[in-house]
Amino acid sequence: MNMARESWASKLGFMLAAMGSAVGLGNIWRFSYVAGENGGGAFLILYLISVLVIGIPLLLVEVSIGRKAQSDVVGSYEKLAPGKPWYLAGFFGIGASLLILGFYSVVAGWSFYYFWNYLNGFFFNEPQEGYGPAFESFTTTLTQPLIWHGLFMVVTILIVLSGVKKGIELANKIFMPLLAILLIILAGFSLSLDGAAEGMRFLFQPDWSVLSDPTVYISALGQAFFSLSLGVGAMMTYGSYLSSSHKLPGATFGIGIMDTLFAIISGVVIFPAVFAFSIEPDSGPVLVFITLPSIFNQMPFGGYVGILFFLSLSLAAISSSVSLLEVPVSYLMRAASWTRRKAAMVSGLIIFILGIGASLGMGVLAGVTPIGENNIMDSMDYIASNIFLPLGGMTMALFVGWHFTKRTALEAADLSGTGLGSVWYGLVRYIAPILIVIIFLQALGLF
Ligand code: PFF
Repeated sequence: MNMARESWASKLGFMLAAMGSAVGLGNIWRFSYVAGENGGGAFLILYLISVLVIGIPLLLVEVSIGRKAQSDVVGSYEKLAPGKPWYLAGFFGIGASLLILGFYSVVAGWSFYYFWNYLNGFFFNEPQEGYGPAFESFTTTLTQPLIWHGLFMVVTILIVLSGVKKGIELANKIFMPLLAILLIILAGFSLSLDGAAEGMRFLFQPDWSVLSDPTVYISALGQAFFSLSLGVGAMMTYGSYLSSSHKLPGATFGIGIMDTLFAIISGVVIFPAVFAFSIEPDSGPVLVFITLPSIFNQMPFGGYVGILFFLSLSLAAISSSVSLLEVPVSYLMRAASWTRRKAAMVSGLIIFILGIGASLGMGVLAGVTPIGENNIMDSMDYIASNIFLPLGGMTMALFVGWHFTKRTALEAADLSGTGLGSVWYGLVRYIAPILIVIIFLQALGLF
């Protein structure tokens, strides 16, 4: 049975959904701790280069494949390259989306928990033991974080169930601007703190010595991919709901720039405060959940800001998680002829189970460190963001750069007959894949 595929109501609907996918925990929670762990300013420059030279061109690649094929991540490759093994990359994408959402929803669950605690006024004042220990005692318990993780997945499933665009387009329209306004207010406050200058120096004044550490490059690349939702097939799937009457280059550029702005502003919120409160900038994934409450605690009406902030963060997380869940869902709907309902529930359940490991890794399973010193959550993140996503993105680049003719590639991206088209094509065909390979080899210590 061939049911009509869903599509966006308008190009704006697509833009909002794609921005909603891009802007999420990655911009605030992940960006701040990865930048903090990698020395700040020099990392920021590598990240910006990754976004401009690799990220945004590949965003156009990914969306244009989906729009041309009008299918999910596996189906798109199958349709455009029948009988060839490219579709295998689609399965990697599905695997990456499950892996990412597995830990993403645990962190989003923390955000829900914080929202709830602000709403009830519990976090209006610093708990006796301090925000740090309070966070620790919450995340190390067995069931509490799992309940919030489960709740987050239920919300994500419910939205995907009822058709992606209905709830999500509207939510994005209201909450993305709200998140932007809140972050700017917070940045203003953060900048007024004693010691803010040190934080700004950390973020904007490159300390080039960190460049001798080979992991900085792969971290910057991984962050660019993660933040732009690139390489999984989420943007491909979203692109597949677009018709050819909507032009892509401006839209993808806008999405990339907005996403980057959100990341920089949250850096300006967090690092001045980190230094003002003498918190270590490399304290890792917990940074946002301890630092921001300390700032709110010092602000007039900070408790209310806390409510709005964690509400916005939770919604930003939902609009991203929906796009991740949509990857396996759209695949199962087509390939297994499942209903949207069944596909969303089964995929969501698998993700919930994956997330249990990530959650317990904060407490009872803290001793389990699959990769280096990384706990389960950080290892899932590392594998997905630094390996699966860049590999997924590189495959897409090779597909458009080498499987397509130049003419087909430029047509698919709405860049025919433009000078920009040749620049983009060169980046996609040569520069981006070569850079990704070099960064990989170098992370493996082979270069
Ligand atoms: N871009 C999202 C964020 O920054 O929070 C995370 C994400 C969403 C990654 C969708 C990958 C993806 F396919």
